[in-house]
Amino acid sequence: MTNKQLPLIEKYRVKRLEDIKGQDLAIQDIKTFFKAFPRKKALILNGPAGTGKTSVTIALAKELNLELFELNASDLRNRAKLEEILKPATLQSSLFNKGKIILMDEADGITASDRGGLPELIAVIEKTHFPIIITANDIWQQKFSLLRQKCQLVNLKELKDSTILEILKSVLQKENKTIKLETIQTIAKKSRGDVRSALNDLEAALSVGEDEFISELYEREKEESIFNLLKVVFQAPTDKKIIDIYNSTEMQIDEIMLWVEENIPKEYSGKALYKAFESLSKADVFKGRIYRQQYWRFLVYQNFLLSAGISSATKLKSNKFTQYLRPSRILKIWMSNQKNAKKKSIIEKYSQQTHMSKKKAQKYNFFLPLILNNTNIQKQLDIDEKEQEYIQEKAGAIIVSAGLNRFREN
Ligand SMILES: Nc1ncnc2c1ncn2[C@@H]1O[C@H](COP(=O)(O)OP(=O)(O)OP(=O)(O)O)[C@@H](O)[C@H]1O
Ligand SMILES: [Mg+2]
Repeated sequence: MTNKQLPLIEKYRVKRLEDIKGQDLAIQDIKTFFKAFPRKKALILNGPAGTGKTSVTIALAKELNLELFELNASDLRNRAKLEEILKPATLQSSLFNKGKIILMDEADGITASDRGGLPELIAVIEKTHFPIIITANDIWQQKFSLLRQKCQLVNLKELKDSTILEILKSVLQKENKTIKLETIQTIAKKSRGDVRSALNDLEAALSVGEDEFISELYEREKEESIFNLLKVVFQAPTDKKIIDIYNSTEMQIDEIMLWVEENIPKEYSGKALYKAFESLSKADVFKGRIYRQQYWRFLVYQNFLLSAGISSATKLKSNKFTQYLRPSRILKIWMSNQKNAKKKSIIEKYSQQTHMSKKKAQKYNFFLPLILNNTNIQKQLDIDEKEQEYIQEKAGAIIVSAGLNRFREN
């Protein structure tokens, strides 16, 4: 692979300790550990993803001119290999007889009990002549309590948005590319301190184009939020407040319905399954009436059935972890193609009439359904039946999310 083909996270992986941002305290502690070695024989680098744990270790080995020896869980099961690794430098066959650092990267997955698990790792720490670095995302899990006692612990922190922004800017500069400040700010903010995810997002933005990327980001956000909402609907005890549950998502009620439908069978069985589908089908009936008769008030019922209706299908709630599924892909692609086509043609007509560039008109996209939800305007713009339907649906959804509360208060 040439350098050009490497993903940004590898192409620009920090190589020197001084280039690692926002971890000064941690780096100091790491250096102290090495000076004091073998007072403590192992060091845990604990911290969230993409904060520099692996990079720090690689850079450190280079700086100290030590060979980096990576250990993985299956090595822990291999006695011969372990012995070879643990042999003191003077007995080693290596030509240069370099000292080494043993790296146990991403220890979170190591099992507590099996052979080749934590007990072996602890045995290695007791026997080693070389410093060991263990990286983990969450070393505070119960299973690590003995390991923690054997090691020095250093925490790496999530990076600040502003630091991530600097990293993104410098990568862009090296790539000789430009991108709107707004876009990289969004990426930095979304990354929540994870440099890897920020760089991956930057790469996506560069390859698919900014606008496409931003709308994908927005989709992703909606999905994250619907996961949390579904969990409440399916698993929390039914509460009066449940009818407000969907207010916090930007997802439209019809799409929410697809998500509910897709995931009912993952959560309910038996009688509950039947009742949940009964609510769903009633919601569907109201949806039909809303479309045909434009009776917006029915949105309240559709919303009620999809929240309280589904939630109250059973009193026996589980709290298992459920991996909720996206509504069947094809359906979703179909919907979004349909929507995009209509959205595009509507924006085009609107922009022509208002002497605005399409790009500018696009900015008003969110409000457009409200502006255009008016027969006179629609006539002027030559809006066809399908587009009309789209406008109504969108406008309705906006009204619902903005107005449901008010409606209830009255
Ligand atoms: N503090 C930092 N300063 C500059 N770049 C960083 C920093 N942390 C991470 N990066 C960059 O982010 C990418 C991923 O970093 P790295 O693999 O070190 O993360 P990690 O902490 O080991 O994550 P994980 O827990 O997922 O293994 C690399 O390209 C690296 O250069
Ligand atoms: Mg890592």
